[in-house]
Amino acid sequence: MAIRFISLWLSLFFISLFSSTLSIPRIGPAFPSSIIRAEQQPSFATSNQPYRIKFFTQILDHFNYHPQSYQTFQQRYLINDTFWDGPKNNAPIFVYTGNEGEIEWFAQNTGFMFEIAPHFKALLVFIEHRFYGESIPFGGDKNAAYKNSSTLGFLSSTQALADYATLIIDLKKNLSAQDSPVVVFGGSYGGMLAAWFRLKYPHVAIGALASSSPVLFFENITSPYGFNDIITNDFRSESENCYKVIKGSWQQIEDTANQPGGLEVLRESFKICKNYISANYLEGWLQTALVYTAMTDYPTPSNFLNPLPAYPVKQMCKAIDDPALGNDTFAKLHAAANIYYNYSGAAKCFDLADDSDPHGLGGWQWQACTEMVMPTDGNSQDSLFPASSWNYSERVAICQRFYNVQPRPTWITTEFGGHDIERVLKRFGSNVIFFNGLRDPWSAGGVLKSISKSIVAIVAKEGAHHVDLRFSTSEDPEWLKDVRSREVKIISRWLSQYYHTLETAFNIN
Ligand SMILES: *[C@@H]1O[C@H](CO)[C@@H](O)[C@H](O)[C@H]1NC(C)=O
Ligand SMILES: *[C@@H]1O[C@H](CO)[C@@H](O)[C@H](O)[C@H]1NC(C)=O
Ligand SMILES: *[C@@H]1O[C@H](CO)[C@@H](O)[C@H](O)[C@H]1NC(C)=O
Ligand SMILES: *[C@@H]1O[C@H](CO)[C@@H](O)[C@H](O)[C@H]1NC(C)=O
Ligand SMILES: *[C@@H]1O[C@H](CO)[C@@H](O)[C@H](O)[C@H]1NC(C)=O
Ligand SMILES: *[C@@H]1O[C@H](CO)[C@@H](O)[C@H](O)[C@H]1NC(C)=O
Ligand SMILES: *[C@@H]1O[C@H](CO)[C@@H](O)[C@H](O)[C@H]1NC(C)=O
Repeated sequence: MAIRFISLWLSLFFISLFSSTLSIPRIGPAFPSSIIRAEQQPSFATSNQPYRIKFFTQILDHFNYHPQSYQTFQQRYLINDTFWDGPKNNAPIFVYTGNEGEIEWFAQNTGFMFEIAPHFKALLVFIEHRFYGESIPFGGDKNAAYKNSSTLGFLSSTQALADYATLIIDLKKNLSAQDSPVVVFGGSYGGMLAAWFRLKYPHVAIGALASSSPVLFFENITSPYGFNDIITNDFRSESENCYKVIKGSWQQIEDTANQPGGLEVLRESFKICKNYISANYLEGWLQTALVYTAMTDYPTPSNFLNPLPAYPVKQMCKAIDDPALGNDTFAKLHAAANIYYNYSGAAKCFDLADDSDPHGLGGWQWQACTEMVMPTDGNSQDSLFPASSWNYSERVAICQRFYNVQPRPTWITTEFGGHDIERVLKRFGSNVIFFNGLRDPWSAGGVLKSISKSIVAIVAKEGAHHVDLRFSTSEDPEWLKDVRSREVKIISRWLSQYYHTLETAFNIN
């Protein structure tokens, strides 16, 4: 049985395998090395990055006063002041609240901020999340920081938010820009952080654009079947045959694996490299491709995780429905897997055991074992994947084994809320945009209905994971252009209200 801890933005896919050949469950992101690393946006080539890289001395623990709490680490942030109108005019500061990986990768995938900065004359800042990229506590040594729960204990969303507040306040002081309004942006986990930042630090940020942020994917708020139901629907609405072929394949893989020589048949059918193979690994590898393809089902070619064509779900189903492959299920699935893992055509064979992690997302595993307990793993009878129920005890067992840590599944809702969010936020809080694309499985845990005049949900039926934040292209469909222009309008309104308040502040008595 394969358990997946799915991370957000890029979404890590953790597969744990209780295999007879491995005594320890393996939990690791599946990034086959045959994948060509995402090519960089031309403007992001190392020689010509559109930002300067800075480091800030950050405090290890914002919430305690033990001697150890006062240790510091170097937190990385990226800054671009090309478009900024400066402190004299109180020109705005747009801050990306970094998620679970290296910040440069997120900056690279948030073209939207670069594209709107000239209009707003905004300063751009991208802050790296602690424990990721180069923002590693304990002397910048990742092995030391990730050693065990004594060090990983400082990796949490509340600490990250406090880092962002501390850094932003200090940066504004250094720039003499105390009155410049700050708007925070984020996608996925970064979007959750942006939304929570606005609610917790209203004196630091005047508003938040939270894209594809599943703030409701906790406890019993969202159905554990929601995530996979959406993936199922993405494929099924493309073609019933495509859905049936994929759904039928899991049993066929297991039956084949159980026959003498069956694993070699699978190896040949899927062109798996000559190292470790098992039915579990193969299924996990295929499921990874299906999940991420659904998440990144963008209307234009993309290169987020892997190079992909426009509407890759459609392309996968086209491969599966291709009559030339007759009734050969494995050939069909191999063809579909090729869309995700081998769109460039360069892969000689696929390495199922590869767990390379080019964007440094591995810390999510700790977060998933402590506070980010998001029940996404349920599969109904109709699911594209084998039916299974979300089993919290299983998560507990893995986390115990891996980190000797007990998850706290109710902490996020205790700290940030989530239950009855409409009622709670109706008269509290303001200036948050929740964007969701309904083809994105994470939208199951998103805020899909506007809560008040200024806590606004923007929903795109055809949209995928934080599609709004991506660089625009000349091929973008109208609905995507509309989403972005609505977001710009709303942010403009927040800023005018802020400036108006700033001007009239002394007139209020
Ligand atoms: C800021 O971004 C723009 C757009 O990508 C780029 O042209 C400019 O060189 C960047 N500025 C800095 C200081 O990196
Ligand atoms: C983590 O490792 C350090 C250094 O080896 C050790 O002192 C500490 O007790 C360990 N913590 C736990 C919870 O095992
Ligand atoms: C602000 O300036 C001080 C002094 O130069 C520096 O140490 C600190 O890192 C700066 N803050 C930020 C956020 O860059
Ligand atoms: C969710 O609901 C079930 C059934 O009502 C309950 O047993 C459980 O404690 C609740 N909370 C979590 C975190 O699952
Ligand atoms: C697939 O087609 C071949 C030849 O057309 C046939 O012999 C075989 O039984 C079919 N297999 C299945 C599973 O339908
Ligand atoms: C990758 O794609 C190329 C071109 O379509 C193909 O020749 C090659 O066999 C594929 N690799 C694998 C491992 O399937
Ligand atoms: C859930 O997981 C626990 C721990 O691995 C296991 O003992 C239990 O049988 C599982 N429950 C179900 C319904 O699969």
